[in-house]
Amino acid sequence: MDDLKKQAGETAAALVESGMVVGLGTGSTAIFATRRIAERLRTGDLRDIVAIATSRATDAAARELGIPLLADEIPTDVNLTIDGADEVDPALNLIKGGGGALLREKIVAQASARMVVVADDSKLSPRLGTNWALPIEVIEFGWKSQARFLESLGATVTRRKAGAEPFRTDSGNIILDCNFGPILDPHGLAQKLSERTGIVEHGLFLGIAQEVFVAGANGVRHLRRQ
Ligand code: A5P
Repeated sequence: MDDLKKQAGETAAALVESGMVVGLGTGSTAIFATRRIAERLRTGDLRDIVAIATSRATDAAARELGIPLLADEIPTDVNLTIDGADEVDPALNLIKGGGGALLREKIVAQASARMVVVADDSKLSPRLGTNWALPIEVIEFGWKSQARFLESLGATVTRRKAGAEPFRTDSGNIILDCNFGPILDPHGLAQKLSERTGIVEHGLFLGIAQEVFVAGANGVRHLRRQ
């Protein structure tokens, strides 16, 4: 599996050009792209790039690898972002947030001219929600009322933990993993979630990714949104 993740990540890293502002994704697949970008900088194949990390973990990894980073600001459009996904449907809509970084990931993705996903083929799904519970970031205050609201929409809700403690996002919020089963109307659901106060962000990335590099037994396929 790691080999597939590596193939997908490294293939996408080849898209980075000198002078670009690059969004660095989070997770076990995107890290291969980040490492390859660092390697290209070291060998002089790439110059003058600056990156924005989608999580503290990625920020720390990129710093250690010597990639120049923007702090918390995105002063200009991001040219290209390479990030992973938990589920990818045939229209290249995504579920993200398995690592809890969905809020920053969506901010960076929406600020990007081109958002490219890297994944192994286990992430492909006929319909979002089939294989993955939807991560929803909520503020802790009143979280049980959000859980009840999400249940009223049909979800089985689990508060994510980190060991014995509640999982905390980089922004200090909590994550409710919401198993909706296959989601028939992702746009309708996204709208309802966006309208609810207390929900900070959800892991539905609809119409955001333009391309997916998906690695499988027969190599890396390049899927483009129609
Ligand atoms: C992080 O919050 C996520 O959105 C990841 O990008 C996603 O979970 C994919 O991670 P892996 O590449 O580790 O499966």
